[in-house]
Amino acid sequence: MEVRGSDLYLGGIRALDLARQYGTPLYVMEEDVIRSRYGEIAGSIKYPKLRIHYACKANTNLAVLKILRQEGSHIDAVSPGEIFLALKAGYTSDRILFTGNNVTDDEMRYAIEAGVLVNIDSLSQIRRYGKLKPGSSISIRINPDVGAGHHDHTITGGPMSKFGVHFSQTGEAKALLRQYNLNVVGIHMHIGSGILDPAPFLMGMNTLLKTAREFERLEFIDFGGGIGIPYRPEEKRLNMADFGEKVGGLFKDWCNSYGKALHLAIEPGRYPVAEAGTLLTTVNTVKITPYRRFVGTDSGFNHLVRPTMYGSYHPISVCNKTDRPCTVATDVCGNICESGDLFARDRMLPEIEEGEVLAVLNAGAYGYAMSSNYNSRPRPAEVLVKEGKSRLIRERETLHDLLKGQVE
Ligand code: LLP
Repeated sequence: MEVRGSDLYLGGIRALDLARQYGTPLYVMEEDVIRSRYGEIAGSIKYPKLRIHYACKANTNLAVLKILRQEGSHIDAVSPGEIFLALKAGYTSDRILFTGNNVTDDEMRYAIEAGVLVNIDSLSQIRRYGKLKPGSSISIRINPDVGAGHHDHTITGGPMSKFGVHFSQTGEAKALLRQYNLNVVGIHMHIGSGILDPAPFLMGMNTLLKTAREFERLEFIDFGGGIGIPYRPEEKRLNMADFGEKVGGLFKDWCNSYGKALHLAIEPGRYPVAEAGTLLTTVNTVKITPYRRFVGTDSGFNHLVRPTMYGSYHPISVCNKTDRPCTVATDVCGNICESGDLFARDRMLPEIEEGEVLAVLNAGAYGYAMSSNYNSRPRPAEVLVKEGKSRLIRERETLHDLLKGQVE
């Protein structure tokens, strides 16, 4: 994203031209941003046996998956669907880890048949996996009793979390593992999402590393994802170099005492893709009431649910007015028939007119991926931009897509 004069540019192309060429609502992904954010993470942890598992729940567009594959990433998949898409994007099965939650036997069979390692989430799953494939290798997700995240809904460790085997239950887990002759090659945590302070992550790491001593034949330890991005103007970016140094240092010391240099895995989802994505949406209605100034657009929480679901802040720009002062308190809303359908409340923006195009920024993670057909509205198209060139990477849905699977 770049500003030239009064105009917003994405991948070297005027955002307004993209909106004209492809129509709105439109998701735009900037290839260079994906590569550079990924590179930041890869460069920050100076440990030779580093594996970055892109948590593809953030964005599973095949073009995005392929870019990250070229960068050398592995995949964190949470469903057969994500395994399927990762394989389609050219990842080999040995580069995918299946970390499901409340997984069915059929889903485990799917992973096993695809040759994908299963990361086990509960004692129940050890039993059920053990019956399906006794004597094989698995990984195990531990709840280190620490959680963190930008919202309650995104905290995935600690006492209230449904994820993983609590570290205090390692003894029970080991008894079951012995019963089915399962070999634990990996141990894992993911404490939450949207973390800008490394402290809870490092606390979780310490507990996980203590727990890891209980397992003698480990090949990797996976510390999960969660690295946040600054969405709000006052938020500070995590100091990646410092974070990498701490994570790498702790791990190296631990490996020395364990007696083997294991693979260090992390699972960023948001970080490599969030800032690469922009949702372009056209204003069709300006409604001034005795109380509010509503700017109504052709998108809504069916396309980007984060503001509605978590109260998340996404920066908004008027594509042709980036140099104007933000003097008007505006409620930016969508076309969905619910009052919570707001991209922003009371946001200071330039005066907006009907027909203008807005850019909702930092929408590349958990944007399209969490979209729906609510109100029977088709999903937007997606384009990839790089160095002044654009390419359609997902067609806009049509009304006909709304019939898919319906049986009369
Ligand atoms: N690993 C596992 C096992 C996960 O469950 C997740 C995210 C990640 C890695 C990646 O976390 P990240 O690096 O993206 O923070 N929809 C929410 C985020 C939910 C994340 C769920 N799990 C949002 O829009 O903020």
